[in-house]
Order: sequence, then structure tokens, then C-alpha cells
Amino acid sequence: MSIATPSRQESSNAVLDGPMLEVKDLVVRYGRGRKAAAAPAAVDGVSFSIRPGETVGLVGESGSGKSTIGKAILGLQKTAGGTISYQGKEITHAGTAERRSLGGELRAVFQDPNSSLNPRNTVGASLAEPLRLRGVSAGDARAKAEAMLERVGLPREAVDRYPSQFSGGQRQRIAVARALICEPKLVVCDEAVSALDLSTQAQVLNLLADLRDERGLSYLFIAHDISVVQFLAQRVVVLYRGQVMESGPAAAVTENPKHPFTQALVAASPVPRPAEQAERRTLRESMGVRTASSVSATPGGCPFRQRCPLATELCAAERPALRTVGESDVACHYA
Ligand SMILES: Nc1ncnc2c1ncn2[C@@H]1O[C@H](COP(=O)(O)OP(=O)(O)OP(=O)(O)O)[C@@H](O)[C@H]1O
Ligand code: SF4
Ligand SMILES: [Mg+2]
Repeated sequence: MSIATPSRQESSNAVLDGPMLEVKDLVVRYGRGRKAAAAPAAVDGVSFSIRPGETVGLVGESGSGKSTIGKAILGLQKTAGGTISYQGKEITHAGTAERRSLGGELRAVFQDPNSSLNPRNTVGASLAEPLRLRGVSAGDARAKAEAMLERVGLPREAVDRYPSQFSGGQRQRIAVARALICEPKLVVCDEAVSALDLSTQAQVLNLLADLRDERGLSYLFIAHDISVVQFLAQRVVVLYRGQVMESGPAAAVTENPKHPFTQALVAASPVPRPAEQAERRTLRESMGVRTASSVSATPGGCPFRQRCPLATELCAAERPALRTVGESDVACHYA
């Protein structure tokens, strides 16, 4: 993808000790009672950590559990197993008061800015709201909102306008401003640029990278397109049906993928040049990876085995554990 420049993956604050966030053996099931117990877990034993100033990219197909992990971290989804720790303190089952006290430090930017911007409120009111909840005076909140709008590339006068009076890209900048106005430490970006056209996408990605480097932010950057993730992330975690297939440094995972699923994901990611796109299509077809819609979930063994051209009897019998291969951790018997 033309927007990808390796230097943007670097963050000057990634040197501090101890993880900002640690997710260990996380399990999430939707539904209640026996129904939930019988259904396959939406997230099934996922572990990763994010260091201060670091961006971890979470990538996978639709329905692989990316948003579920984001929601569990934000306290919006109950977990069925595992732990989530923020700055060394477990917050898996944190109560409302504890979550509220964390609210300013842990923020989110979603794909649809309308979910965080009330269309009936002015932009200024939406931006001031999280500050007012923390006791900031109306005058100070307005001043902060104007400064934050300016920082994300919008005029100060935008405070008095409504979200509908802005373009999609501008609305996403406002959503970024709202997420960052309380000076958070960790931001979950869930498909934050996926609805934007390529050039607006590049502008918002650059803005997110600048803000990260300026403020020492950590991001969990969720996207289905691995080339978008590659632009910001220092490390990448690849999910398939709620399980980690591969994780490691962004360059190793995206340029030298070891898991057959990651290889298919890289070959499927869109590139702007038609000739390169055609090459990728040929490569993808030659891999012999079956499409998601052609198979149904079967319990046991490797979750990818029905689509994998390399699958053997061992793959049906045993779920491969993550093991270190080169710089990455890979869950494949044959990586
Ligand atoms: N509220 C819900 N109730 C029941 N099942 C759900 C709910 N939300 C998600 N799921 C299921 O959990 C699984 C993971 O969904 P999730 O939204 O986390 O996927 P995703 O990776 O974010 O996908 P996408 O790229 O489409 O956003 C899917 O099978 C989905 O159908
Ligand atoms: S374990 Fe087997 S089925 Fe799974 S990805 Fe590796 S080769 Fe394919
Ligand atoms: Mg999602």
C-alpha cells in the first residue's frame, strides 16, 4: 500500500519497562447459560501485551473476534476466562467505579464516528463531555476542545457546528479529538480508518502516528487489512476464529509470514497498483487456500485446517500450540 512507510512504525516511547496492557488466555463467549457453553468461543485463549508507547496491530477476517477483544479491554464485554491487566493491575472484572476512574486513560476510536458523537450535540459539547465528567469547568473544557480541534487539523470554530456539517474524514478527526482530549495512555482504535477513502485514510493514519509519538500513547490498532495495520504497528497479532495464529514484529509478520493463514491475508490485502494487484491474485490462487464461506467450523485440531492446503491428519487431531519460529510465534505444526 502506498501509504506504508516503515519509519512510522517507530515510537520514541517504546523503551519503558513493563507492559501498559497485558491480555492473558482471554476467553469470551456470547449468549447465556447452556447456549453459551455449547457455542464456540468468540475469543478462545488469546494472549498479547502492549508496552508504553507501542502500537500492537490486531488483524483478522470478519468475525475473528477483533472487536470482541477490544470491547473486553474497554470493559464493554464480559469475559469467560483469562485476565486483562492495565499497568500491572488486573481489571478483568473491574466494577463501575474502578472503570470510571480508568475511563480517561483508556479510550477508543471506532469505525463509525456517529457512535461517539451525538448528532444533536455540537462538536464542542461532545468534546467537552468527558472533561466535564471529570470536573473541568465549562470555560476550560471549551478552550481545551478548541485546542484539540486545532491539533487534529480542524478550525477552532468547529466547536459550534454539528457532526453532520463535516465530511466523513473530518468526523473521524473529531472522534480522534474526543478520544484524546482526556490525555489517555491507551487507545483502542477499532477499524478507525476502514470507512475512509485511501487518501483520507493516509491523513488520519499520519495524524494517529503523530499524536502517538508526541504523547507517548499506546494503541491497540484493529483492522481487517494487514497493510493498514503495518503502517502504524510495531507488533502484529493475527487472529483466526478467536485464536492467535501468528504474532511478532510487524516487519516479520507482514513481509515474511510463516502461518498459511497470514500468508493468505497478506496476499489478499489490497494494493493501489493494478499490476501488483494482479500478481497478488495469481499468488493467492496458487496457494490453494479455500474461502471462508466454503467451510464451516469443526471443533478440535487446527481451526484453519479446512481451508489450509497443507493440512494433514495431525492438523485434524491436534490444535497446534504457538511456538517461536524466527522472530515470530506461530500456531502451525509445519511452520
Ligand atoms: N453481541 C453479540 N452476540 C452474539 N455474537 C456476537 C456478538 N458480537 C459478536 N458476535 C460474534 O462473535 C464473533 C466475533 O465477532 P467480532 O465482532 O469480535 O468480530 P470482528 O473480528 O470484529 O469482525 P469484523 O471485522 O466484521 O468487525 C463473530 O462470530 C460474531 O458473530
Ligand atoms: S497446523 Fe496444519 S492445517 Fe493448521 S495451518 Fe498448519 S498446516 Fe495448515
Ligand atoms: Mg469488528
